[in-house]
Amino acid sequence: MTQQHYRITLLPGDGIGPEIMTVAVEVLKVVGEQLNLHFEFQQALIGGAAIDATGEPLPDETMEMCLKSDAVLLAAIGGYKWDTLPRHLRPETGLLGLRAGLGLFANLRPAKILPQLIDASSLKREVVEGVDIMVVRELTGGIYFGQPRGIFTTETGDRRGVNTMAYTETEIDRIGRVAFETAQKRSGKLCSVDKANVLEVSQLWRDRITQLAPEYPDVELSHMYVDNAAMQLLRWPKQFDTIVTGNLFGDILSDAAAMLTGSIGMLPSASLGAANPGVFEPVHGSAPDIAGQDKANPLAQVLSAAMMLRYGLNQPTAADRIEQAVLQVLDRGDRTGDIMSPGMNLLGCHAMGNALIEVLEQLATSVI
Ligand code: IPM
Ligand code: MG
Repeated sequence: MTQQHYRITLLPGDGIGPEIMTVAVEVLKVVGEQLNLHFEFQQALIGGAAIDATGEPLPDETMEMCLKSDAVLLAAIGGYKWDTLPRHLRPETGLLGLRAGLGLFANLRPAKILPQLIDASSLKREVVEGVDIMVVRELTGGIYFGQPRGIFTTETGDRRGVNTMAYTETEIDRIGRVAFETAQKRSGKLCSVDKANVLEVSQLWRDRITQLAPEYPDVELSHMYVDNAAMQLLRWPKQFDTIVTGNLFGDILSDAAAMLTGSIGMLPSASLGAANPGVFEPVHGSAPDIAGQDKANPLAQVLSAAMMLRYGLNQPTAADRIEQAVLQVLDRGDRTGDIMSPGMNLLGCHAMGNALIEVLEQLATSVI
């Protein structure tokens, strides 16, 4: 078997980012050795770490490195320290710039309940058992990027904050297609979420998604208003399979969907475009309150590495191997604090990484 070579840009970012990234890199190295994949890792700055070192949240050098790689693995950005900076200098602006600069219009956020963690959910077992949802969030348009935007002063001296929620047909169609194709590979059910009872941008969204539907006869399409979708996600989440929605609604609903699974610390995501490398990152943030204390749950980062292998590098066997290792450490009863329950073994971030590597080594000897 010839060795596959991949250049991966690592963006550890802020807060717990560096700790969880270390675990993911160790896991990738072990799986790479086992399956004859060679990863060349290069590290770059983003977010608060980049602001401290260079004065800007997304230095040109970082963008260039990302463009020249096969995939980008990002941890998390942000922290109290940078919260009061003007918007163009905030860590979040770096992340949004990276998504826009790489043209990553499709964000896949799976929320799947793992049987081992049902009791970590704040909802009842019968509500969450079997939940398996994929949120397809539009990532480079909508109110996050619409113009005009800003804080303006009116003639009477009153300040007015403005953002614009806008989508073109082209933007709706391309995310719509990703969503239909995603639903095809899953259970064939797609729910498009909008606010078409109030917003023109949502009327257009609903029209276009409806017009795409005949091209995907094997997908059952439904529509839901976003307020109802938020309620239904908590009331009976099993009614959903694939959800497609705009940038802001997707931001909010993906956090809600994440919490069904018990901990946002478990959930990975993939941001994909048409041409450039994808960015793979946990759904959670930088958790500055526990940074540097070896308490973080590295599993969302590790599962993001698995998504990178599956969606970015087309290495499904390696992705399966990592996902299987995560399930097995949970089966052993290993838990970080965020998913801890009575009778389980409480591990720190680093120890959770060691547990994964132990399990991966066992998996390699059992699968010939
Ligand atoms: C997310 C985050 C980001 C977003 C922030 C950090 C800019 O909440 O990835 O969901 O709003 O997209
Ligand atoms: Mg968010």
